[in-house]
Amino acid sequence: MKNGTTRRLFTKMSGASLGYILISRHAVRGGQVNPAIARAMEAVKAAIPRAEADLSRPVYHFRPPAQWNNDPNGTIFYRGWYHLFYQHNPFAAKWGHMHWGHARSRDLVNWEHLPIALWPSLEKGEEHVFSGGAIPGADGRPVLFYTSIGKRDPEQWLAVTTDDELFTWEKYPGNPVLSVKSHGARKVHEWRDPFLFQEAGRTFMVTGGNLDPRGGYAAVQLYEASNKDLTAWKYLGPVFRHPDKSAWNIECPNFFKLDGKWVMLISPHRSVEYFVGDFDLAKGRFTPQTHGVLDPGNSYASNVMFDSGGRCILLLWGRTETPVGMGWNNVMTLPRILTVAEDGHVRQNPIPALQSLRGAQASTANLSLNNNAVPLGSKVAGDSLEMAADFEITGARSVGLRVRCSEDRSRGTEIAYSPESGMVTVGGQKAFVGRDSKLSLGVFLDKRVMEIYANQGKGAIFTLVDASARDLGVEVFAREGAASVRSLKAWSMQPARFSLENYI
Ligand code: FRU
Repeated sequence: MKNGTTRRLFTKMSGASLGYILISRHAVRGGQVNPAIARAMEAVKAAIPRAEADLSRPVYHFRPPAQWNNDPNGTIFYRGWYHLFYQHNPFAAKWGHMHWGHARSRDLVNWEHLPIALWPSLEKGEEHVFSGGAIPGADGRPVLFYTSIGKRDPEQWLAVTTDDELFTWEKYPGNPVLSVKSHGARKVHEWRDPFLFQEAGRTFMVTGGNLDPRGGYAAVQLYEASNKDLTAWKYLGPVFRHPDKSAWNIECPNFFKLDGKWVMLISPHRSVEYFVGDFDLAKGRFTPQTHGVLDPGNSYASNVMFDSGGRCILLLWGRTETPVGMGWNNVMTLPRILTVAEDGHVRQNPIPALQSLRGAQASTANLSLNNNAVPLGSKVAGDSLEMAADFEITGARSVGLRVRCSEDRSRGTEIAYSPESGMVTVGGQKAFVGRDSKLSLGVFLDKRVMEIYANQGKGAIFTLVDASARDLGVEVFAREGAASVRSLKAWSMQPARFSLENYI
């Protein structure tokens, strides 16, 4: 990943030139202007026109008003709002100056950008506010935990809010709430990314890292809160060690109960992986039974939350690799509902509320293919589309769709399924979705990014689409044999709303 080594994390970052600053009303903390937040938000606002001028920027994947984002942080459902915080560089469209951006949504589709929530307290030696999580505090309001990075060992810090809208945040004066000393004689390297969960009326935290920087000891550590204010914590030891010795480190662990099992999501500097198994609370040990890659595409660094309907909502950082100078870089994946199926593996499906963005619909049915490709014409074309296709395979070695095809059909981005291997492939990225003579495919094309869901959530891939603005065609194909498209529906997708009303 971008910051696979500590050395890269501390690369010198360019300072932003400040100039005249309009003070946002939300940059005020307890009657005092917080200049760090005011400066950061002005820098973001200044980049908005550039970001909006880029017509290849996704329109219905979540993204900050402008500039850089990486991991989703502290996702939490509170008082009817889905809150999303995220790693954010307000000063450039590249990694650096880590703050926590903030947005909220009623439906996980349309968003309100909110004032930047957390900033590096430079006067306290803090240079970055790294990833972390949220959990209800003693008064029921969410509190945030994150890793504080400076020219010292990492520390886990607590931030609290003073309002039910969660607009303004203050750092707990007694920080850090956890330091490397908490581990006694054990040394945890690359120690970061707290994630919180409650079980049996108790509050727990897990963190990422490794127990030997030479490799082979990627591990997740477990802690329990020892007071209601969540300011005192007890170290319980490693709850999980990666069975694969080639995984040297774990970032952004998420550990939670789902459908009667326990799920561990980890970001081991390669695609996000899941482990599903049992958790012995008394021993503080997680025993995985199944394991897989969550999304083999351009995504990383998961975060989950549960809503009032009990749905487990997953977000991942969607890496767009946007060329520098565009005023924006990266998105979040579409919010996915995560479940554990009978076979012990996870399923991921896009939230149904995305249907509210559907515009004009076009459809086709019972289209026979035999070692050919059929363009779907001008009704099924565009760079912001949802498609749902059901294939029946009667001999073909592979079937699928090509999107963003050029007029002469020489260029396009292919989504292919092989019934023999059970793999869906997009670019070089492959997800196993089962060996079958049927394939059901959900495609969300959003300018330079695309998300694929196959066979009722058995596979999900976030990927990039490199196409020229005029390449808008779609075609279906079957290779080396016959197949039919039982049904294909396509909708043009409207942009999601991103309100800046509370970002001034
Ligand atoms: C994952 C990560 C985290 C860290 C954050 C810094 O992408 O490296 O481990 O907290 O990003 O931005």
